[in-house]
Amino acid sequence: MSDSPALPVFILDDEEIPFTPGQTIIQAARAAGKYIPHLCWHPDFAAHGSCKLCTVKVDGRMGAACTVEARAGQVVENRGPELDDKRRTLLQMLFVEGNHFCPSCEKSGDCVLQATAYELGMMSPHFDHFYPDRPVDASHPDVLLDFNRCIMCELCTRASRDVDGKNVFALSGRGTASHLIVNSESGRLADTDFSVHDRAASICPVGVILKKRVGFATPIGQRRFDVRPISAQVEEDI
Ligand code: SF4
Ligand code: FES
Repeated sequence: MSDSPALPVFILDDEEIPFTPGQTIIQAARAAGKYIPHLCWHPDFAAHGSCKLCTVKVDGRMGAACTVEARAGQVVENRGPELDDKRRTLLQMLFVEGNHFCPSCEKSGDCVLQATAYELGMMSPHFDHFYPDRPVDASHPDVLLDFNRCIMCELCTRASRDVDGKNVFALSGRGTASHLIVNSESGRLADTDFSVHDRAASICPVGVILKKRVGFATPIGQRRFDVRPISAQVEEDI
């Protein structure tokens, strides 16, 4: 018998999940190898709570698994037809708000938005497209920015500010006019101290922040999410 007291548990889709007090539902689920769909949450950063893809039912009430703390005895519903249907709607909204033309995007097969849509069985964008027309920023020698694919998860802003200590990115505007900007007087990436080695250069879950000269290098069939669905990569940094 172990001397250490057993961890408290909650129930996630009929399974007992142990947790350390203070952990959120998504943190405890991840540690137990259980996938809760998410876009704006990343294990290395504080929760953001904006995408709502991680919405679960906690004792019958909707809550964001990335912000709700685990509690002993909670009954949490995660993967069911009702919740996955709502998640598909959120995904469809994200797809039409940007220009997600996956067949021509070098992030295809390596994109968290696309992989989540496959996981949840999204077949079409369903809503009318917005077709944003934001200029691409190719000014930086090593990195290209295509703002038309941004899902405003703010992982790049958090990585740049909190890890790189640079504050290169920010969100600007309100409502549907919100969009990502570069913090320099000219608004160009080349006029910041951004480096391809920054954490922010490799954090984007979609195809906005792209390293130059390395695209389309992985054959179709061998790309990250070709090999295993996103729900089978729970313990990796997604
Ligand atoms: S550029 Fe990428 S990481 Fe930054 S907010 Fe947009 S989607 Fe998120
Ligand atoms: S992952 Fe929880 S709100 Fe985005």
